[in-house]
Amino acid sequence: MEQTQEQAIISMPRIGDTAPAFKAVTTQGAINFPTDYKGKWVILFSHPADFTPVCTSEFMTFAKREPEFSALNCQLLGLSIDGLYSHIAWLRTIKDKIEFKGMKNMEVTFPLIEDISMEVAKKYGMIQPGESTTKAVRAVFFIDPKGIVRALIYYPLSMGRNFDELKRALIAMQTADAYNIATPADWQPGDDVIVPTAGSCGVAKDRMELMEEGITCTDWFFCTKKLSLHQVNNPPTLK
Ligand code: BEZ
Repeated sequence: MEQTQEQAIISMPRIGDTAPAFKAVTTQGAINFPTDYKGKWVILFSHPADFTPVCTSEFMTFAKREPEFSALNCQLLGLSIDGLYSHIAWLRTIKDKIEFKGMKNMEVTFPLIEDISMEVAKKYGMIQPGESTTKAVRAVFFIDPKGIVRALIYYPLSMGRNFDELKRALIAMQTADAYNIATPADWQPGDDVIVPTAGSCGVAKDRMELMEEGITCTDWFFCTKKLSLHQVNNPPTLK
């Protein structure tokens, strides 16, 4: 069925969906998504506009912390509904002039997508008409090495993102994949993790009566185990 323009604006990929493909021009050259990033995690994020203060503080922070994401096999990809020359001028201004929280001379080396046509922003539901019809909200898509959307976080125009949380979310998903566990509220690497709930009465009984080695259960459905920082930082290779 043909989509109306309104439907196109408000549709967005959901967790578990294949990330929509696109080709785009960026500050680091042309990209073909997701083909160019196969085998890597990608954080695809939008910001409302170049030359605005909250966005500037976010880009400086992302630029500073980019090596931490890169070390986690994660590529950062930014996007706004601005043209390439605006992006270039803004990133040059950030490098040459702006200081924020002790950061200066910050060079943004990850690609920033120009999306003046809104093609990508519409595919990813980054336009939220209740907030703005001309600016993307602060959307963050976590896309795994197989090109599947694994998490999304949306913030309004007025709120800068928390980069510790973005990194924590990425590590939590990578750790869940590597060790087949889940992470509890406010989990930080090195904290105990949740063992998947018993899927049968037999396993539930065994867990409570035998207490599988290394697993602590306070009830049949609430079992945790230790996962050291070393294990989190050195996951087994995933097939
Ligand atoms: C900002 O980045 O400062 C901003 C952008 C759009 C609306 C409000 C604030």
